Amino acid sequence: MNHIKSKILTVFFSCIATITIYAQPKSIPQKVEALLKKMTLAEKIGQLNQYNGDWAATGPVTTDVGNKLDAIKSGEVGSILNIVGVQHTRVFQEAAMKSRLKIPLLFGQDVIHGYSVTFPIPLAEAASWDLTAIERSARIAATEAAAGGVHWTFAPMVDIARDPRWGRVMEGAGEDPYLGSLIATARVKGFQGNGLGNLDAIMACAKHFTAYGAAIGGRDYNSVDMSLRTLWEVYLPPFKAALDAGVGTFMNSFNDLNGIPASANRYLQRDILKDKWGFKGFVVSDWGSIGEMINHGYVKDNYEAAEAAINAGNDMDMESRSYINNLAKLVAAKKVSIKTIDEAVRRILTKKYELGLFNDPFRFSDAEREKRILNTDEHIAAARDAARKSIVLLKNDKQLLPLSKSIGSIALIGPMTKLKKENKGFWALDVGDENQVVSLYEGMQQQAGNTKLLYAKGCDITDTSRAGFNEAYKTAMQADVAVMAMGERFDMTGEAKSRSNIHLPGVQEELIKAIVATGKPVVVLLYAGRPMVFDWTADHAPAILYTWWLGNQAGNAIADVLYGSYNPAAKLPITFPRTEGQIPIYYNHYNTGRPAKTDSDVNYTSAYIDLLNSPKFAFGHGLSYTTFKYDNLKLSKKSMLKSGAITVSFDLQNTGKYAGEEVAQLYLRDMVSQPLRPVKELKDFKKLMLQPGEKKTIIFTINKDKLAFYNDQLQRITQPGEFGLMIGSASDDIRLQDSFELAN
Ligand code: NOJ
Repeated sequence: MNHIKSKILTVFFSCIATITIYAQPKSIPQKVEALLKKMTLAEKIGQLNQYNGDWAATGPVTTDVGNKLDAIKSGEVGSILNIVGVQHTRVFQEAAMKSRLKIPLLFGQDVIHGYSVTFPIPLAEAASWDLTAIERSARIAATEAAAGGVHWTFAPMVDIARDPRWGRVMEGAGEDPYLGSLIATARVKGFQGNGLGNLDAIMACAKHFTAYGAAIGGRDYNSVDMSLRTLWEVYLPPFKAALDAGVGTFMNSFNDLNGIPASANRYLQRDILKDKWGFKGFVVSDWGSIGEMINHGYVKDNYEAAEAAINAGNDMDMESRSYINNLAKLVAAKKVSIKTIDEAVRRILTKKYELGLFNDPFRFSDAEREKRILNTDEHIAAARDAARKSIVLLKNDKQLLPLSKSIGSIALIGPMTKLKKENKGFWALDVGDENQVVSLYEGMQQQAGNTKLLYAKGCDITDTSRAGFNEAYKTAMQADVAVMAMGERFDMTGEAKSRSNIHLPGVQEELIKAIVATGKPVVVLLYAGRPMVFDWTADHAPAILYTWWLGNQAGNAIADVLYGSYNPAAKLPITFPRTEGQIPIYYNHYNTGRPAKTDSDVNYTSAYIDLLNSPKFAFGHGLSYTTFKYDNLKLSKKSMLKSGAITVSFDLQNTGKYAGEEVAQLYLRDMVSQPLRPVKELKDFKKLMLQPGEKKTIIFTINKDKLAFYNDQLQRITQPGEFGLMIGSASDDIRLQDSFELAN
């Protein structure tokens, strides 16, 4: 009897188990495999092919592909870039739905610093050292872009840049791997929100893999020649941080690294990214970069280019058409295995599934949502907040700033004063209404109250003519204060916008001289996408604000800072050279065997005989309207084991009369090391708000991760010995120092 009972039970449970197996929805990997089985080779290759859409092209369009919609219907296209808006994307997606397998298209776009509401350029935002604000602007950009039909942004750009001549310095987070890594994390989290598949999340792309920022001479697209140790120490960390934050894709880069173009670089894409780091997403080439390997002289034609790229781990071909025209032939010739093709397709399909596109290819194409989500008051307020947080107070002699509301008149002088759309910066999209951008003039009008605003342009950005100087001089003479809005054009930085001369363009510095000569107090605002050279101004203008390009809310944010309703707290994320000849210049350099004892020590030292060694403005520099006192440094112990930690505490007090934020910075130096370590490396920071007179204790923890580095075998190690510890307000303004030991 018992035997029969147990048999019945076994049958019963196995039925339930079977039902459960059948009822269980397929996992994404299972769906991908099932779909792969149905695909022809041509359809697989189509998934690896990305074309430019009908929005402004962001690269040289050389070949006509014929009718793109027909190509999509035939399954020859997996992704389209440069296409925004519900209406446009819908047309393209409808074409994909007419293809045999109805595999949805992936729409990619450079959503770099905002979608409709534009935020400060990324380098400016990095100056805020405010990870919450940075994450929020990426979040808002993603929310808007996703409502505008976009699935995927080609951001964040996480390239470390030590050369301000390079035009793309505007697009990253500056020169420091630690700060750059935290910002990379914040941006990825912001774009991808609660994860792919949510309607307000877009897939992020860490670019450009890699070392693109180290182009020789700062000339865009140029070769990169660097030690692997520098690559691992300085250039790779932000990419690893993006990966750890879950970034969905990587983009490779235009440059060659030590003689191997990034698109065909197996060491980078396979060995490091996919094997060592275990990256599960896909790699897209940069625009045309696969085909450009012919120009590099690395391959003789697109056939060889496609072979080299796919075998090296480049999954998707952006606009070079090397894959679509050659992969089938390469498979037939057994130069590319079907396994390699499948692997690339699998990675791309997985992301399409994760984004929910197979459930509903039109889920990002909702016209009502697009209308509702773009340009909300909340987004505009966040853009203003981000803009204020990005403005760096470089200099403020005799506390000229903030301006009093009781000033009789202000002369607004300079070519930037009335600019509108340009405030959006280089990578801004032509979405939204130009009238939403607030010029400096408009921002000042909003807040000037009874103060009379006078205006004279003085000169244009690149003018060689001084014809407007006289009027500007007279205008300044009639005013109590002059505020000069100067700088480089918004499109003097960005892709293919390297400059050999990074001085303030045209006759602008002469105009500043003329206005300073009036004897009136002069505040100079510098609009730029990079560190510029402006030595005379730096030495003679009493107050300087570096405003970069701040986005839609530029005018309001600058007025907030000028009038002190916001107390500036930003810090430079990149070193400002005295002149071009000092480039590359960065704070985390080695000491050399003959370091200069003083800034002007040239007695057989590592120095220039015609220039001071120090930069004009150092990494981490940035003033406030208030002052801060650093005091009472305490280390929990003077020696730590590898498995242990040291707690560092100190007091920070607001000793001025304005409430304000300070970014307190922790730097370390490995005093004796083989191989060498830099004179100083940022290892932690804390941004905090203090009321006048208020004091708070700040605590940093030092563990072995903060002491580790790559040795010449590229192993991450720590070495016992002495470490110098520096805490300060900037890399050149160290207020507290001590040392400790890492015990054996
Ligand atoms: C080329 C740029 O290098 C890259 O950053 C960008 O995402 C693509 N063009 C697409 O616009």
